[in-house]
Amino acid sequence: MRFLITAGPTREPIDPVRYLSNRSSGKMGYAIAEAAIEAGHEVILISGPVNVARPRGAAVVPVSTSEEMFDAVVQHTGNCDILVMSAAVADYKPAKVSRTKIKKREADLSLELKPTRDILSSLPKNRRYLVVGFAAETDDIEANARKKLHAKNCDIVVANDARTAMESDENEVTVLFSDDQKKKISRALKKIVARELVKIFENVREKCLTKKIM
Ligand code: CTP
Repeated sequence: MRFLITAGPTREPIDPVRYLSNRSSGKMGYAIAEAAIEAGHEVILISGPVNVARPRGAAVVPVSTSEEMFDAVVQHTGNCDILVMSAAVADYKPAKVSRTKIKKREADLSLELKPTRDILSSLPKNRRYLVVGFAAETDDIEANARKKLHAKNCDIVVANDARTAMESDENEVTVLFSDDQKKKISRALKKIVARELVKIFENVREKCLTKKIM
C-alpha cells in the first residue's frame, strides 16, 4: 500500500528571524513511516522541521509552513491509499509577516494572528484513501478526539495526551474508529506503538476495499 504521512511541527514566520511553532518532535510520525516501510509499504513522508533521522526507504518532502504542508498533501493524496496526518500543524499564523526584523522597543508588543487552513477539513468528502487524523489533547481526551473524528471527516483518529506524548520516545494512544469502536494501545516505545498502528490502518483499509467503500 502507499502511505502518505505528515510529521513534525510547522513554522509560521513572524519576521526573517522569528516564527511561531510547537513542541512536536516528529518522532511518532517518523516511527509510523519506519513501521510502514518495515511492513513492505511505500512511504511518502511530508515533514516539518525536526531532528529525527530520515527513515531509510521513505521519500521525504521537507516543508516548513502550514501552507507548504497543505500544498504537499494536496499534491500527493491523488496517489495514496492511507493518509496519516500526525503532524502538529500550527492553528494560527501572524496576520502580517514583517520583511525586516522587528526591533525591540520599551512598549508592549501584540501580534495579530489569523487561523491557518485546516488540512484535514479541506480534503474532499468522497475520496479513495483512508484518512487517519491525530488528536493532541490535554483534557477530556477521548471526547475531544471523537469530536475531531466527526468534524474533520476522518476514518480513524489516534488520540494522545499532548502533555506526555510530545518530545517523548514513548506514547500511549486510543484509536477511535468512525463506527464508534475504539482500541487502546498501552504505553510503549513509539516504534512499538507505530507497528500496532500500521497493522490497524492496513486492516481498516483492507476492509473498506472488500466492502468496496473506497
Ligand atoms: N490539522 C490539520 N490542519 C490544521 C491543524 C490540524 O490538518 N491546520 C490536523 C492535525 O494534523 C491532526 C488533527 O488535525 O491530525 C488534529 O490536530 P490537533 O492539533 O489535535 O487539533 P486542532 O484541530 O488543531 O484543534 P485544537 O488545537 O483546538 O485541539
